[in-house]
Amino acid sequence: MVETTISVIKADIGSLAGHVVVPDFLLEFARKELKAGVEKKIINDFHVTHAGDDLELIMTHFKGENNEEVHRLAFDTFMKGTELAREKKIYAAGQDILSDTFSGNVKGMGPGSAEMTIEERKSEPFAIFMADKTEPGAFNLPLFKIFADPFNTAGLIIDPNLHDGFTFVVQDIMKDVPCFVDMKCPEEMYDLLALLGSTGTFTIKKIYRADGMVCASVSTDKLHAVAGKYVGKDDPVAIIRAHSGLPAMGEVLEAFTIPHLVAGWMRGSHAGPLLPVALKDSRCTRFDGPPRVIGLGFQVSNGMLVGPIDLFDDIAFDITRQRGMEIADYLRQHGPFEFHRLSSDRMEYSTLPKVLDKCSTRFTEEEIVPTGKAKDTSDSAE
Ligand code: F6R
Ligand code: MG
Ligand code: MG
Repeated sequence: MVETTISVIKADIGSLAGHVVVPDFLLEFARKELKAGVEKKIINDFHVTHAGDDLELIMTHFKGENNEEVHRLAFDTFMKGTELAREKKIYAAGQDILSDTFSGNVKGMGPGSAEMTIEERKSEPFAIFMADKTEPGAFNLPLFKIFADPFNTAGLIIDPNLHDGFTFVVQDIMKDVPCFVDMKCPEEMYDLLALLGSTGTFTIKKIYRADGMVCASVSTDKLHAVAGKYVGKDDPVAIIRAHSGLPAMGEVLEAFTIPHLVAGWMRGSHAGPLLPVALKDSRCTRFDGPPRVIGLGFQVSNGMLVGPIDLFDDIAFDITRQRGMEIADYLRQHGPFEFHRLSSDRMEYSTLPKVLDKCSTRFTEEEIVPTGKAKDTSDSAE
């Protein structure tokens, strides 16, 4: 049986009017490049879109994960697109390209990727979620709810195919060398949650059904860890299969009805609600946000894509968006204060340490009393 691989490879190679939106000419250019990739038989099919300032290349092929040709096609598209963006002086052109020498796959080079290789079922519906102004750990909560929380996913109780639970493969993304652990749910739910709650350290990489069927894959690339300084957040993508013994599409989407707090937003340094939005609203504006996620639903048929449908383009998510915007408004009133601004350890690679370093030399062990003669202002009211 032929196995189909779904590869989503993304990068921010420049955006319009700041870090807002990928310009149309870059989307068109990427479509042209991937079409050539189909003609050269590197990939079977593709869909190009954007999540805010991130260019998203969705591709299907029969070549497996981490395939050099497929990754090179994506990398070259980003490189050539960067040149075009530079010609037009598009903002932050080439932001996520940390090296111009391709070395087999895009890992560690700046772009992010999520891939999944599947034996196609009789019908194969899946969704791709693409977020902007946040990090891979943003998917921990919705993925846990989809595959482990019966209050979200009725099928965990009702459908015998889901009843045996799911295995979560979790990555410690703070380690220099990729480091994974697998945990079964519901058996190890408390241990799993102990990890997943630390969204900046542990992120879900893949999820498998108890019988070994792969059901979800997330990008876990740490751009700022690779660059050693803040160059942008690692805006993540996730591929999730649905139906026929897996959570239904509606159960998958239900998990996004809490505009839960994620790290990112302005300068990658603030907590904010994750808004599920339609493609037309995939543009981060207020305070460079709030962080948002788009969802595209596809089917894959003999290696070819059918679709997409814009999953969050539905009034049923208006209430979530409204609530998210109210939370955003409340959080903004905290200005530079935690817990709207992230704690300084979460901002390790940002520019704040430079400012703090400058202040640190002025600290002394003695409490300082400012010198100067206090004015007697007791008569000043007269
Ligand atoms: C967050 C992001 C933006 C920028 C901010 C400052 O991921 O991309 O919030 O951090 O707009 O941008 P620069 O430093 O390019 O002026
Ligand atoms: Mg950007
Ligand atoms: Mg982005």
